[in-house]
Amino acid sequence: MITLSAKPVTEEIRKHLEYRAEKFHQKYTRRPRLAVVLIGNNPASVIYTKKKGEGAVSVGIEHETLNFPETATPAEVQNAVQRLNEDPTIDGILIQRPLPPGFSEDEVLYWVSPEKDVDAFHPQTVGKLVLGLPGLQPCTPAGVMELLKFYKINLAGRLACVIGRSAIVGKPMAMMLLQANATVIQCHSKTPNLRSLTSQAEILVVAAGKPTLVDSSFIREGAAVVDVGIHRTTDGKIIGDVVFNDVAKKAGALTPVPGGVGPMTISVLLTNTLYAAEHRMGDSSR
Ligand SMILES: NC(=O)c1ccc[n+]([C@@H]2O[C@H](COP(=O)([O-])OP(=O)(O)OC[C@H]3O[C@@H](n4cnc5c(N)ncnc54)[C@H](OP(=O)(O)O)[C@@H]3O)[C@@H](O)[C@H]2O)c1
Repeated sequence: MITLSAKPVTEEIRKHLEYRAEKFHQKYTRRPRLAVVLIGNNPASVIYTKKKGEGAVSVGIEHETLNFPETATPAEVQNAVQRLNEDPTIDGILIQRPLPPGFSEDEVLYWVSPEKDVDAFHPQTVGKLVLGLPGLQPCTPAGVMELLKFYKINLAGRLACVIGRSAIVGKPMAMMLLQANATVIQCHSKTPNLRSLTSQAEILVVAAGKPTLVDSSFIREGAAVVDVGIHRTTDGKIIGDVVFNDVAKKAGALTPVPGGVGPMTISVLLTNTLYAAEHRMGDSSR
């Protein structure tokens, strides 16, 4: 069983990003810049925001965090995002989720201009992905694709299954696997006989957000299994949607949690920021 650890992949991506960020700096005499908008002080969001900022700095991308109090109105935040959209020194913008009560996800999706939309949530960005056009990539599913590529997990002509159909993980994940010529089964909470489908899959991506949902009875012998889930147990341990020790006995490859999909997500966010910066300046590398 191969453990699909993010470490060697993120190291490789990091070196490449450092090189590109330096090249950008020399050419345009400024660094690419990422703005993170954080509303309220949800502890997990505060940690994620900090990690994104540290990741940016580590590859030579500048960053700033705009921290709004939980009491900020949607109009206040939207105006600030609009200023960032218009600021020529800002290349990438992301609004940290979850949004506090009073903010409508359906409206916020449109706030960040598509060219700076490094989370790839804007409907226009999603449309490009569906059409297979070049552009910014949704961070978590693109991170999964990078991981599979690095470990040479073939996708073309193989049967893949995705558990989950959220807009940020499940749906774009299925779309990317399809574009890589896998045959894709997409499951969700209303799917009957989940096991009968997942146990056929040569590649299984689990993004249900349900701790320990998937044990070895869901797995085809030798399958590559990707665990997107992240949960903190009452004793402070980080676990996924997959029972690692049990599934490891049957799978051919499996991501650890932590140390699997999570770090990949940040790597793609930084890749998107550089892409957005280069693209805005007229350079295009993707
Ligand atoms: N590693 C990372 O960087 C990263 C990034 C994002 C998310 N995550 C984690 O990934 C997990 C999923 O995130 P998300 O945002 O996609 O969650 P989400 O919006 O809650 O979506 C979960 C999806 O799973 C489906 N589902 C739930 N229970 C199921 C079950 N018992 N059987 C089959 N399908 C089931 C749901 O179906 P319905 O549509 O029918 O409700 C839904 O489509 C969470 O643990 C989250 O923390 C990790």
